[in-house]
Amino acid sequence: MIRLLLLVLAACAATVPVQAQPLEIADRTSSKTFTAAQLLADKAARSLEVADPVYKRPMTYRVIAMADLLRDLKVGRDDYVQARAVDNFSVAIPAALLRADGFLAIETAATPWPKLPGGGTTSAGPFYIVWRRPAVGGDISSEYWAYHLAALTVTDSPAQRWPGLAVGAEVPAADPVHRGLDRFVAVCMACHRFAGAGEGTQGPDLARPMNPVDYFQPAALRKLLRDPRSVRDWPEQRMPAFSEESLSDADINAIVAWLTYKAGKR
Ligand code: HEC
Repeated sequence: MIRLLLLVLAACAATVPVQAQPLEIADRTSSKTFTAAQLLADKAARSLEVADPVYKRPMTYRVIAMADLLRDLKVGRDDYVQARAVDNFSVAIPAALLRADGFLAIETAATPWPKLPGGGTTSAGPFYIVWRRPAVGGDISSEYWAYHLAALTVTDSPAQRWPGLAVGAEVPAADPVHRGLDRFVAVCMACHRFAGAGEGTQGPDLARPMNPVDYFQPAALRKLLRDPRSVRDWPEQRMPAFSEESLSDADINAIVAWLTYKAGKR
């Protein structure tokens, strides 16, 4: 049903004004749909200034705290919230983190936002997840700043949904492969699947038919993950560059280590 809704939304994205897109909020048993105007009229709506890594400057938004927005949902302690956008972007965010520190920013015709930087033709609206804390290395991934949002859905953790991603018990806890899996789920899976696991389809599956470690020189792959345009560059290119703050060199090495580990397991 949600897939169908997303397909319809994606089909309409080019024609329906952005403000008309609804937001669906669902747990395992119920689902509600809201317009931007409805959410802005909620008594929990307020203004918030954030250091915005997408617009790359401080921005002030009308927001509702996720704690308020998700208050009526049934959410287990280890649950995640899948944040799906209209453009095949879909990231799994720990529900506890989202409720503690996340906000939904809401755009309307009366409060338009600027176009996305880098030649974007639309704003980040009408629904955009913003955070009180900036995306600095730690638990808030750059991809948790999810814009063009269409749905927030309570689900099991990625580890439960996609056991094929897991790192075996034989790998010592201190091995960067574990960190690599963690970062892959939080950052890369917003756009990429891995051997079919995941929901994002903006970019290619990174295991099928081939894993990038099978055809990239290691140094070139690390360069691509830091800034794809430093390896190849074309107008329709969509994969973003990652700053040192959002993805450290150690994180990039860890992701490559996990990809290599998985390539060796087939
Ligand atoms: C916002 C979406 C997005 C995110 C996040 C993202 N990618 Fe990508 N990636 C893409 C897209 C789209 C492409 C296809 C080329 C393009 O349009 O940039 C791509 C291409 C690639 C390629 C090149 C594949 C090839 O054969 O040319 C690799 C490797 C890759 N991504 C790995 C990653 C890894 C690892 C991460 C996490 C650190 C990541 N990507 C994060 C969207 C994304």
